[in-house]
Amino acid sequence: MSITETEAINIKFENFIHTKENEDLFEKTYRVDKILKSGILTGNEALGMISLNKLSPIVKLKEKDGYCHDVIMLGSNSYLNIANHPKVIEASKKAVEKFGMGMGAVSNYAGICDLHKELEKKIAKFYNCEDAIVFPSGYGTNVGVISALCNSEDIIINDSANHASIYDGCQLSGAQIKVYPHGNMKYLERILDRIPGNISGRLIITDGVFSMDGDIARLDKITELAQKYKCKVMVDDAHGIGIVGKTGRGSAQFYNVQDKIDLNVGMLSKAPGGLGGYCAAKKEIIQYLRLYARTYFFSTAMPASVAGGLIEVFKLFEKDKAGRAELMQKTDYLKKKLLQAGFTLGNTQSAIIPVMIYDEKKLFKLYQELRIQGVYVNIVTYPATRRKECRLRLCVMKDLTYHQLDIAAQLIINKGKEYQII
Ligand SMILES: Cc1ncc(COP(=O)(O)O)c(C=O)c1O
Repeated sequence: MSITETEAINIKFENFIHTKENEDLFEKTYRVDKILKSGILTGNEALGMISLNKLSPIVKLKEKDGYCHDVIMLGSNSYLNIANHPKVIEASKKAVEKFGMGMGAVSNYAGICDLHKELEKKIAKFYNCEDAIVFPSGYGTNVGVISALCNSEDIIINDSANHASIYDGCQLSGAQIKVYPHGNMKYLERILDRIPGNISGRLIITDGVFSMDGDIARLDKITELAQKYKCKVMVDDAHGIGIVGKTGRGSAQFYNVQDKIDLNVGMLSKAPGGLGGYCAAKKEIIQYLRLYARTYFFSTAMPASVAGGLIEVFKLFEKDKAGRAELMQKTDYLKKKLLQAGFTLGNTQSAIIPVMIYDEKKLFKLYQELRIQGVYVNIVTYPATRRKECRLRLCVMKDLTYHQLDIAAQLIINKGKEYQII
């Protein structure tokens, strides 16, 4: 197959998901393979790249072709590198020795141990809620919570930039789905104002910190509108927990509206450094979720070693001793350098720094060259955002030194100049 660069740039994800008439079910996979092998679509180098050491400011990467090299890590969601905190490792080791590698059963059928219960209590306390439920997967948390609580009689209102797992949960629930443009509170109110009076099951869902932009949802306004239009509010604070707010309790604390959030969802895989997700809420809601959230009921519980490590993480979070202040200082330092050089960074308020590139071809080249020259960053483009809003996505890690940040910033600035982005 031969395609031009212009054709390649216009390829859509959806082009490959349908089975054409008289076509074998797997034919689509061969079509994708041909496109990737044509070499015209860059960006898939990441498939097959592996890390050779534990997460740290410098990670040794093995490229697909076997080439091994060191990179400054600006692409991990483990912002606090807490997975490598000595207390967390010690607790995790103890748990694996006591309970083995896996739990062997779903939570409701004796798949959990005292550590899972303790973790749930810690999370509930962290949010000042009556109870909490821990799911073995973050993605499955959103899917499970939303599809358990909403049905075809209900309506769910989403920010357009919400995470894919939220949309998948909405789809599975069968509820009517409405979407407002990212952060547009006027549009949100217009949707709320038009909901027919007979639809009383109403849920507004938003990311707390938006994963691709790093900005924080206007929870002050959202909770005010929710009250006015009798809606419940669910916040997925995957990238906010442990990072934003006066003492790191997340986006609701940032706006001082913690008591107005009905469903405090979050992921244990980002700043908490582990795996899984949770929902903290009123005890009746949590009890219901244990029975009706299918991604909980029908999925094996998280390993005790993860639960054990996460208990220590929440102990550090409770005391605000996980290094949040240092992380934010370093994030501001890097942001300032990139802004001064002339990059557009959007409205980030977290440890996520979007560096707008606006040109997909340049983005792929930048990503590749930065990595090979020693700086690992993630890239974001279609289908995660619109192609013309494509960007580098930098995630600062607390343990990076200022010297490492200087090196990374200088390389990004040099490349930005070379590609005439700044
Ligand atoms: C906002 C948000 N919600 C949910 C998830 C899913 O979490 P996990 O990766 O732990 O499954 C992510 C992960 O990228 C996310 O960014």
